[in-house]
Parts: sequence; structure tokens; C-alpha cells
Amino acid sequence: MQVSRHGVEDFSSYLVEMTNYLIPLLKNFIPMKTTYYGQSCFSIETEGKTLLFDPFITHNPLAKHIDVNSLKPDYILVSHGHGDHTADLLAIQKNSGAKVICIAEIATWLGNQGVQDAHGMNIGGGFNFDFGRVKMVNAIHSSSMPDGSYGGNPAGFVIYAEGKVIYFAGDTALTYDMKLLADENIDWALLPIGDNYTMGVDDAIKACDFINCKNVIGMHYDSFPVIKIDKEEVMEKFVKAGLNLKLPAIGERLLL
Ligand code: NI
Ligand code: MN
Repeated sequence: MQVSRHGVEDFSSYLVEMTNYLIPLLKNFIPMKTTYYGQSCFSIETEGKTLLFDPFITHNPLAKHIDVNSLKPDYILVSHGHGDHTADLLAIQKNSGAKVICIAEIATWLGNQGVQDAHGMNIGGGFNFDFGRVKMVNAIHSSSMPDGSYGGNPAGFVIYAEGKVIYFAGDTALTYDMKLLADENIDWALLPIGDNYTMGVDDAIKACDFINCKNVIGMHYDSFPVIKIDKEEVMEKFVKAGLNLKLPAIGERLLL
């Protein structure tokens, strides 16, 4: 049988088209691995890279069983300068050579600490890294470095990788700006729920409506007496609101 050259070309371009169409679809079924390290510290493994958020481990008594030297991230994302988000930043960066993704002022501060290749961004800006895209978004909070230096504005991150969208809110109040994320198709939101320093449970539930996302991992609770929560009560509130809340144990691994 003779197949015309035209037919073969049509068929191979059809295959390429189908592959381009199917791969992003299939990626939706491949879970992303995340590990909780306490307070607002998480790692996410995606596209063969490990992203670590807001490292605060050695000063967190609840995270005593985590060996900070075992963490070798490729990237460290820092939402703001407060100690409960940066206490282990320099040590882990030195240990791993990770690139730090943070607001411009923290990148400058890191430069003064001898970390030369931090990737400074600012609110509203996105950048395509080798694992996916990161967009820096608004957070309503404050920010200064542990040594008192100016830390710029606090921030959150939206991560687009492996066909998934993850929102890491950082330390923030409930804000109408979250409504800007409603059409981003966020798969999972990492939201502070501890109250006092950030939004509490009721506002976090409202935030889920603003960002149009039902899957939540709670963070920024229990590390200090003023942000202690009653896990059962919190779970109940989220369930009543029709939301899927995860409160992983410190060191626990979840699939997103
Ligand atoms: Ni803070
Ligand atoms: Mn904090």
C-alpha cells in the first residue's frame, strides 16, 4: 500500500498535536509531593526540583525531629523577613546552594549576607523558572529582617508548575486583592489560619471564597501560645463551609 507523503506528514503532525494536548492533561493526575515542616515551612517537589518555603525549623520546638541539614532545596521562597519565616534561611541556603526567590529588598539584604544570586521580584511580577512560573502577589502584613533591616513589603506566591496552580499566601490578613486570584484555577491554597499575627480561621474560610479554591493546607498555627488552635474545631468549620482542609503533622508528606 502506498501512503502519500502528505498523509504521513499529516499523521505525524497529528501525533505531535495529540501529545501536546495530552501531556498537560495527564500531569493533572500526577500528584505533586509536599512536606510540612511546621509554621509556614513547606517543601514542594515539582519537575525534579525541590522548592522550600519560609524555613523556620531549628527555633521551632514543634519541629525538633526535623534534621535541617537533610534539606537540600533547589529554591527557597521567602514571603517576608520575619524570623519565623527566615530563621534557617542562611544556613539552608549555604548548605544547598539554593536560589532564593524573594522581594527585591530581601534579595539586597541577602547580598549583604554573602548570598549573591538571590532572585529579587516585586508584587504583581511573575518569572518563568526552570520548574515553572512564580508570580509574587500581595500580602497584608509587615516585614523586617531579623537584624532589623528593612524587608520591603510582605508577599505571597502563586506557583504554576506541572499543570497545577498552588497559592502560598505567606503571612496575610484577608484582603480583597485575593479576589484577583479567583480565575487562576488554584488547585491548592496554603493559608495562614492561626489568628493574632495573620488571618484566623473565619477569614481564611472567606479567603477560600475570594480565591475560588476548596483545597487548603493550614499553616502559621500552634508554634506560639497566641496562635494555638483547636484542630478539631477548625476542621469542623472548614467542613461546614464545604472546604477540604489538611492539617499535616510536622514531617508529614502529602500529595497535592
Ligand atoms: Ni510575619
Ligand atoms: Mn509569621
